[in-house]
Amino acid sequence: MEDFKQLFSLEGKAGLVTGAGSGLGKGIAEGMAQYGAAVAVVDINYDAACKTAEVIHAGGGEALPIRCDVTQPDQVSEAIHQALSRFGKLDILAAIAGIGDRNPAEKMTLEQWDKVIAINLRGVWLFNQEVGKHMIERGKGGSIINMGSVAGQVGLTTGNANYAAAKGGVIALTRLLAVEWAQYNIRVNAISPAQFRTPLIINLIESKPETLSYFLENIPLGRLGEIRDIVGPAVFLASDASSMVTGAVLNVDGGYTAH
Ligand SMILES: NC(=O)c1ccc[n+]([C@@H]2O[C@H](COP(=O)([O-])OP(=O)(O)OC[C@H]3O[C@@H](n4cnc5c(N)ncnc54)[C@H](O)[C@@H]3O)[C@@H](O)[C@H]2O)c1
Repeated sequence: MEDFKQLFSLEGKAGLVTGAGSGLGKGIAEGMAQYGAAVAVVDINYDAACKTAEVIHAGGGEALPIRCDVTQPDQVSEAIHQALSRFGKLDILAAIAGIGDRNPAEKMTLEQWDKVIAINLRGVWLFNQEVGKHMIERGKGGSIINMGSVAGQVGLTTGNANYAAAKGGVIALTRLLAVEWAQYNIRVNAISPAQFRTPLIINLIESKPETLSYFLENIPLGRLGEIRDIVGPAVFLASDASSMVTGAVLNVDGGYTAH
């Protein structure tokens, strides 16, 4: 019998996770490390990246913390250079770093628009392009996971015009790259969560408590996502278990987009 359990293993693989200092990126980096990958832990907050790397080391995994602002091309190149210097290759990219900055559309400033588009869309593009170049040159394929959101698919998350536009862009970019890079066996998929209990959402609920019931009303499973809910989908997309999956938007949303 073929050993199908091995399909989910990340042993011998090297990955880079952006936004890995907190929330979903941290969970994804830790999960990938537990499944055997060496992980470059990238964040603008170097202390937070170091803490994630420490947790991974304490669990017996391999991690390299790297400070990088994902909006800056020179910093993106340098981060990838550091990861390649340590690991010699990258099989996996998880472009997770992102922020929200809400305001009703009619009040949203250009600064708010530009900042969210820069981190959530330009940052994803810069990492996809640079890691994609490496994967093409190396000739061994790879798996790219981009962080979408239900906000990129439906109009329910009000006050979020900048964020919805960025996430919609990430989903469109994911589909385009999946087709363009299929010839290199580089798979490009997106994860699209509803609201998860991370600092991003906890801060919002603390400042506007009524948002919690609004979120929950739209999630058929009736709860917020927890960090552990994102790990399986990310490990699946990173691993050979998803070797025929590309251009997919994996909704991790408790049914949010199903109704
Ligand atoms: N939490 C949710 O409910 C939810 C839902 C859908 C999508 N998402 C997406 O998941 C991703 C992670 O969100 P989270 O909830 O874990 O947020 P978080 O605030 O807990 O973590 C985001 C991390 O990104 C880092 N970061 C911010 N700007 C950066 C930059 N310019 N360069 C590098 N790193 C930067 C932060 O330092 C932080 O460590 C984001 O793309 C977010 O849009 C989150």
